[in-house]
Amino acid sequence: MSCSVAIGTQWGDEGKAKMIDYFTKDADIVVRYQGGANAGHTVVVNGKKYVFHLVPSGILHKDKHCVVGNGLVLDPVQLMEEVESLELEGLDAKKRLFISDAVHLILPYHKALDAAMEEFRSQKIGTTNRGIGPCYADKCLRTGIRAGDIFNEDTLKERVASALKMKNLELEKVYNKPPFTLEEIMDILTVFRKKAGKMIINTQNYLHQSLKENKKILLEGAQGYALDIDHGTYPYVTSSNPTIGGALLGTGLNSFHINEVIGIAKAYVTRVGEGPFPTEDTGDDGDRLRVNGKEFGSTTGRPRRCGWFDVELLKQSARINGLTSISLTKLDVLTGFGKIKVAVGYEKKGKKIDYFPSAELGTIKPVYEELDGWEEDIDRVMNYEDLPSAARDYIDFLEKAVGVKITVVSVGPGRESTFLRG
Ligand code: IMP
Repeated sequence: MSCSVAIGTQWGDEGKAKMIDYFTKDADIVVRYQGGANAGHTVVVNGKKYVFHLVPSGILHKDKHCVVGNGLVLDPVQLMEEVESLELEGLDAKKRLFISDAVHLILPYHKALDAAMEEFRSQKIGTTNRGIGPCYADKCLRTGIRAGDIFNEDTLKERVASALKMKNLELEKVYNKPPFTLEEIMDILTVFRKKAGKMIINTQNYLHQSLKENKKILLEGAQGYALDIDHGTYPYVTSSNPTIGGALLGTGLNSFHINEVIGIAKAYVTRVGEGPFPTEDTGDDGDRLRVNGKEFGSTTGRPRRCGWFDVELLKQSARINGLTSISLTKLDVLTGFGKIKVAVGYEKKGKKIDYFPSAELGTIKPVYEELDGWEEDIDRVMNYEDLPSAARDYIDFLEKAVGVKITVVSVGPGRESTFLRG
């Protein structure tokens, strides 16, 4: 069996897309397993920037197949826009992308409810307003519409009408928002059937069959450990499981198939949206990380909150996910900081805490160690040995503190700025 999983270890935006693009060379099939168009995955190839929200970034490799797994919530309009713009670029995305027939579809009422609920919340979550939470809620309520439903027009119409009755009531009576008509929803689904019908298959069977044929599979996580609905900083989380359990549920593969779990970690930490963030730096250093790291959301354009590497966060992520290695990204952004802070633990009311407390995060204080920085530009470095010694010491320090081998280092957005650590 050969199945690797790449998982975000912090609050998302760890540079997963770039690393997944790097690991795709060793895979035959790349699979997204959770989330939806709340993710924004940026890849730079030959100086050209691609931003994906739904299509796995593996699609840029012409000989690879890609899968939207059953664990996602899929906006059919957004997906087809991405597919069509790839086709315009000469990439045969329609032939190489498969969509699970069990994936739940995000419809306009999900997006309207996402925005309306956020407006009414006294404690904002800062959602991306892509309809993610309401669509996952419908999945649990068993009122969702799945991709496989679009093939039988009569039952589809019945299901949509029944869901719409409830959604319109909620929109109008609870949130004082305009309702949707059955026709407008059915139009979207009809267009989706015509354009994407051939891409919709039983992806669970396809993946199992592919493993029998010795194909190599790479599972691509979206968001990150601390945004996980079960393990993250609830309620400031997304509505799915970016962690390892989500990779199994969202594809139909089982734990015996997985032989590698790669944690993607940024060399510092960012968070977008609301919620606790112990190592956040709201001063000049935080601003400098944001500017140097171009830390603005690729889905919403919001400035990301920035801060220092948090060892306990990574240790917890390593435990929950069973990380077998770490790929460290955006090391180049730390160039020019005289001293680099690393949080090696926390303190609460004068007592040391050596775990990542998902519930009491607002009340703890990080304990920092300061490491020497480096001045040399490293974004053109092609070998680990050519990094300044302070940069290598920084990596050694993180690896020892977290207890998981850092095997890959990235120093820039392009494919070429990635190297193995000897
Ligand atoms: P939702 O997933 O749109 O409901 O947003 C819930 C929370 O997760 C918000 O704080 C978002 O900013 C955050 N979030 C969702 N997707 C991403 C992502 O891909 N990267 C970083 N943060 C995200």
